[in-house]
Amino acid sequence: MNIFAYDFGYDGPWSYGHLIAAVIFAVMLGVSFWRNWPLWTKVLVDLLLAWSIAGYVILQLVLRINLPLELPTDNFLTAGTGQVLDAGAGSGRSSLMVLQGRPQSRVIALDLYAGYFGIQDNTPDRLYANARLAGVADRLEAKVGDMREIPLADETLDAAVSAYAIDHLEIEGIKKSFAEIRRVLRPDGEFLLMVINNDVWIRIAYPFFLHHGYFGPRTNIERWRNLLTDAGFEVLEQGTQPATLYFLVRKGT
Ligand SMILES: C[S@@+](CC[C@H](N)C(=O)[O-])C[C@H]1O[C@@H](n2cnc3c(N)ncnc32)[C@H](O)[C@@H]1O
Repeated sequence: MNIFAYDFGYDGPWSYGHLIAAVIFAVMLGVSFWRNWPLWTKVLVDLLLAWSIAGYVILQLVLRINLPLELPTDNFLTAGTGQVLDAGAGSGRSSLMVLQGRPQSRVIALDLYAGYFGIQDNTPDRLYANARLAGVADRLEAKVGDMREIPLADETLDAAVSAYAIDHLEIEGIKKSFAEIRRVLRPDGEFLLMVINNDVWIRIAYPFFLHHGYFGPRTNIERWRNLLTDAGFEVLEQGTQPATLYFLVRKGT
């Protein structure tokens, strides 16, 4: 597990903010002993140092900010093969999750590739570079487009995933994206939705993390589920993994 192998482009504060804080607190701790600061300041700086190191470890190893994501369930695309849409693919963590986890699959990586969503220079070039590094570029096709108006024909895909992307949209955008994903799926097509879950991992790493998209500070599990069923999806599985809420749904009738 090499956190320096890929370049997913999550910029400074996201990738290294905790590390920078750790260096600052370590220096302060040294100064506190050197200048013989009162005990309580040493304890406080100690705690802050421990938090920043914990935050860095969570960010890298739990949130996998610089690593391909891992499928949260074995039940996704059990056939192991098929054409999969990654809605809001960005620099490729979720596309690599599918391509590595299901080595017979092909992925269409759809993204606006415009605007800022935490990724610096969010371009298909960066996505392809990461895919080449993983040895899966021959099964990947990047497509510039909006998931609220997917530029693909009806019922052409076996499955879809979307990781930490739809939760950036407003409610109308979420509804449109779900309808569009459902439209492009074949009748039995599956959709794996992954959104940020403001659980203990997120709260440790980002104590002041207020919201990630429309749903605000608390991840509203029921509301996500209702939006999916209202869009016509049938829920096959629902669960959490650290920092993540996921739903595996089927197009349904
Ligand atoms: C936080 S990134 C997640 C990228 C990737 N799935 C991952 O897990 O690393 C969110 C991505 O969603 C994309 N995005 C946001 N709104 C979009 C839309 N309406 N249509 C397509 N992509 C969108 C952004 O450009 C960005 O690349």
